[in-house]
Amino acid sequence: MMFYPPEINPSILSADFRTLGHQVHLLTEVGARVIHVDVMDGHFVPNLTYGPVVLQSLNRTAGPAVWDVHLMVSRPDEVAPWFFIDRVKSITVHAEVTAHLHRLLASLREAGREAGVCLTPSTPISALEHVLELADQVLIMTVNPGWGGQSFIEAMLPKIEALAEVRNRRGLGFHIQADGGLDLETTPRVVAAGADRLVVGSGLFSASDIAARFLELHNCAHSRE
Ligand code: DX5
Ligand code: ZN
Repeated sequence: MMFYPPEINPSILSADFRTLGHQVHLLTEVGARVIHVDVMDGHFVPNLTYGPVVLQSLNRTAGPAVWDVHLMVSRPDEVAPWFFIDRVKSITVHAEVTAHLHRLLASLREAGREAGVCLTPSTPISALEHVLELADQVLIMTVNPGWGGQSFIEAMLPKIEALAEVRNRRGLGFHIQADGGLDLETTPRVVAAGADRLVVGSGLFSASDIAARFLELHNCAHSRE
């Protein structure tokens, strides 16, 4: 079985935006390296967030952090190139919204980014059958996309297990990312199912000491090793 050491990816959606740069800095000081950035267009999901302008500003203070961009937008083919900027390590697009997923994933790699593909809770993993070779990361949404602070959907655990099994059977090496409703209780369970990149928003930023909570999450993700 493929095994990658689990990694906590803080989602700034739940950060306090008055001091965003400071909070990212605090997290990098305790080891956070890959920060999850939820881009919402008010169309694919009924919420609006931020774009490349904010990342370019954060780039001036973010220390060793790099960005993992999760595009919750209706036209990812058009929007993805806006994020071909410094420190964007990975770009993840939803399988539900593009007719040209194969071409789009290839173009992300050609641009020197990790290519990510995401499934909402209702989309089966069979939707990815013909593109898995082009993916560096598969994101299984463990809530419906659009907001932070929702409850973890238990039925996504067997979905992650099934995806890990497909990866194993086909000898592929993509990372499995889980996003939504992760906290100290659910994080070790998605790791046990096969996820290695754990996106945590409210479960991290609701803590009074986010650096301490990051370390707790990191430790509980590694607790089964
Ligand atoms: C939801 C976003 C998530 C969100 C998760 O659409 O994709 O990244 O920040 O938030 P929590 O961890 O609060 O469920
Ligand atoms: Zn996300």
